[in-house]
Amino acid sequence: MTSTLAVTADSTHSPTTRRYLMCRPTHFEVAYSINPWMDVAVPVDRELAERQWESLVATYRALGHTVDIIEGVPGLPDMVFAANSAAVVGGKVFAANMHSPERRGEQAPYRQWFAEHFTEVHLPLAGSEGQGDFTWTGSRLLAGTGYRTDPEAHAEAAARLEVPVVGLELTDPRFYHLDTALFVLGHEQIAYYPQAFSDRSRAVLERLYPDAVLATTADALCLGLNAVSDGATVVIAPEATDLIAQLHARGYRTIGLDLSELLKAGGGAKCCTLEIHP
Ligand code: ARG
Repeated sequence: MTSTLAVTADSTHSPTTRRYLMCRPTHFEVAYSINPWMDVAVPVDRELAERQWESLVATYRALGHTVDIIEGVPGLPDMVFAANSAAVVGGKVFAANMHSPERRGEQAPYRQWFAEHFTEVHLPLAGSEGQGDFTWTGSRLLAGTGYRTDPEAHAEAAARLEVPVVGLELTDPRFYHLDTALFVLGHEQIAYYPQAFSDRSRAVLERLYPDAVLATTADALCLGLNAVSDGATVVIAPEATDLIAQLHARGYRTIGLDLSELLKAGGGAKCCTLEIHP
């Protein structure tokens, strides 16, 4: 079986053209466990993973977006999760400083790619996992902490990228990166899973986004929030049925993409996608 593509009717919102960086999963596997989704005893079908990833690339390109591709490196099975390589806002790169020793080898090839494509590349001093924990809304950087990215890195990102940063604390290990619990729909609107956050952070989100889309536990547990929106179309896990219905009610179009193999490492569409915000 290849991946399923379920496309719905047109959106009432207007999309903006995006640029993404993605890493081919040539060396993808679950060789260690650094989050609750990863079980080294569960086999991964790498060929299926490659087909699923290819259909994600094809989906973005069909939507008119630009996809740059970096090749995977042997021995770095999680390199496919390009979102963790940096946060890029305003053409400035705030590179990653990975929490897990298993993933630190990814930094050199990604940093080299950034150096070849950007003039301003900042290396954090504190632990920082790129867009896994930094989400640009268009006017502010929402910044997760709790499992991977240190709060000190939030301050560094604010200074280096010269943007306002709002820190958010994650409290459920299944939602170890901000992008597993929250995504930006566009137009200063977000969707999130409230129970993944501390009471204080939940209050912050309620104040900033009183009209946000709230995901159910079932939606969150299939990584439905690890979705990618261009402002009109949302690429999302097809099992997130309640969330998909809510998105349709708000006028968004959805494309359900099955990334079953990448999910075994705790990643979905967003994890595979680094958005380069110009
Ligand atoms: N196995 C990877 C890890 O635990 C998955 C990373 C997913 N990436 C993301 N942006 N949430 O680090």
